[in-house]
Amino acid sequence: MLEGLPGRASVYEVGPRDGLQNEAARLSIDQRLELLAALCDAGLTRLEAGSFVSPKWIPQLADTDELVRRLPARPGVVYSALVPNDQGLERAVASGLREVAVFLSASESHSKKNINKSIAEALATFEALVPKAVGKGLRVRGYVSVVWGCPYEGRVPVERVVEIAEALVRMGVYEVSLGDTIGVGTPRQTEAIVRAVGAKLPPSKVAVHLHDTRGTALANALVALGNGVGTIDASVGGLGGCPYAPGASGNLATEDLVYLLDGMGVESQLSLPKLVAAAELAQRLVGRKLPSKVLQAELGARERASREGA
Ligand code: HMG
Ligand code: MG
Repeated sequence: MLEGLPGRASVYEVGPRDGLQNEAARLSIDQRLELLAALCDAGLTRLEAGSFVSPKWIPQLADTDELVRRLPARPGVVYSALVPNDQGLERAVASGLREVAVFLSASESHSKKNINKSIAEALATFEALVPKAVGKGLRVRGYVSVVWGCPYEGRVPVERVVEIAEALVRMGVYEVSLGDTIGVGTPRQTEAIVRAVGAKLPPSKVAVHLHDTRGTALANALVALGNGVGTIDASVGGLGGCPYAPGASGNLATEDLVYLLDGMGVESQLSLPKLVAAAELAQRLVGRKLPSKVLQAELGARERASREGA
C-alpha cells in the first residue's frame, strides 16, 4: 500500500467552519479572520471559512456574511462555505464568495437531524441549487456525511454512498468529500469505501473528511491516499465536530496530517511550523486544550526546554 502513495496531496482546511461550529466559545469576526490569515500564512489555499445555514441551527457562524465580505483576497487562495438551500446560496453570492459546499447524509436519520430533510429531499434541493450556483460562476463542493457509520442507524450501505456521490457529480460538484462524521472508520473499511466510490468517479473528484473520535483518522487518511484520493480535509488543532451527530469530535488535525505527509515525502506545500503557530492561536482563541498531537508535542517540548534553560 505504501508504494501507492502519491507524490503530492491537497489539504482542505475546515477548522474555521467545522471546528468552530461546535465550540462553546463564540469567536468574533476579527478573531476568525486572524485564524484564517494564520492558516493562509502556513500555505493553505483551500479553506472553509463559515456556513450560510440557519443561525438558529448554528449560532456560532451566524455572521459568516460579514466575515466573508472582510476576507482579504490572497493570490491562489479559495475560500468556501456551506450552503444548505437557496437562501444560503443567495447569502454566499451577496458576500462575494467564489466557492460553496453542499452537504447531505447517507442515512435518513442523520439527514433529518442535520438539515431537516430526507435524503431524496436533499438531493432534489441540490439538483436545482448546484447548476444554479455553477451558472453564477461558483465552484461547488459536495459532502456526504456518516459514510463510515451513523450515530442513529449504525452501518450505512456503501452502495447508497456511491449513488449519492455519483448524483452530486452529475449535478456539477467538482469534488465529493466523504465524511466519517463520528470517527468510527478503520482502514480496511476505508479501503472498501474509497475503492467503491473510486470505481465510479475519478480519484481527483474524491476527498475524505475524517473525524478523529477514536484515533483512526490518520490511518484512514493514509489508506485513502494509497487508493488514489487526492484531497484530505483537516482542521487546525483538530477542532471540530457536528452538533447534530452526538459524540462526534474533532477532525483530523491539519498539523498531524502534514507531519505524516512530510515524513513520507508527500508534498503538500504547507509549512509545519506555521501550521503549529496557527494551531497555537486556535487553542488560545477557543480557550481549551486542542487534541492535535503535533501541537501538544511541540508545546510540551518548548515547555521542557524553557524549564531546563531556566
Ligand atoms: P428548517 O428549519 O427546516 O428550514 O431548517 P426552513 O426552510 O423551514 O426555515 C426555517 C427558518 O430558518 C426560517 O427563518 C428561514 O428563514 C431560516 P424564520 O422564518 O423561522 O425566522 N433559514 C435560514 N436562515 C439563514 N440562512 C439559511 C437559512 N435557511 C433557512 N440558509 C436548514 C433547514 C437546512 C436551514 C437547517 O436545518 C440548517 O441550517 N441546518 C444546518 C445544520 C448544520 O450546519 N450542521 C453542521 C454542518 S454539516 C457537518 O458538520 C458535516 C460535515 O462536516 C461533513 C461530515 O463531517 O460528515 C459537512
Ligand atoms: Mg465534519
